[in-house]
Amino acid sequence: MIPADVLNEASRLALAAGVKILQGFRLADTDAAHVARLLDYMQPEAGETWVDIGCGFGEVARLMHAACPDLNFILVNNNYFQLSHAPRDFLQLHADMTTCRWRTKAPMAACCCMRCAMPSRLRWRCAKPPA
Ligand SMILES: C[S@@+](CC[C@H](N)C(=O)[O-])C[C@H]1O[C@@H](n2cnc3c(N)ncnc32)[C@H](O)[C@@H]1O
Repeated sequence: MIPADVLNEASRLALAAGVKILQGFRLADTDAAHVARLLDYMQPEAGETWVDIGCGFGEVARLMHAACPDLNFILVNNNYFQLSHAPRDFLQLHADMTTCRWRTKAPMAACCCMRCAMPSRLRWRCAKPPA
């Protein structure tokens, strides 16, 4: 685990350098094209709520929402500095993804853009609410 102060400083430097998507592996040359490819993998449906697990600065969700305004996002990150720079338009959860428990009857989908090279792991749909 990266110590919080080290991650905070790296995040601050990234932001200062204009790096808003914290993903080394990119699916395209620009942020917008990268996110468009992610949307292709996800195939979201109108009105869905997606949980962005490990959302970084929330830039992926912001760009997805710009492309598909009828999607809603919930941002999850255990790094407060990054989350504090994420868009306020979405519900933000400062939480550890490994201990999150979802208690909702609403169908939701989740994306985790930590492994973009592995699209099959990018999307999970909750067919029924988790117990
Ligand atoms: C490689 S970055 C990807 C960030 C974002 N998905 C993007 O594409 O810009 C990994 C992200 O996961 C977050 N993260 C790592 N471990 C986490 C955990 N246990 N719970 C919640 N977030 C976590 C980090 O703080 C960071 O924002």
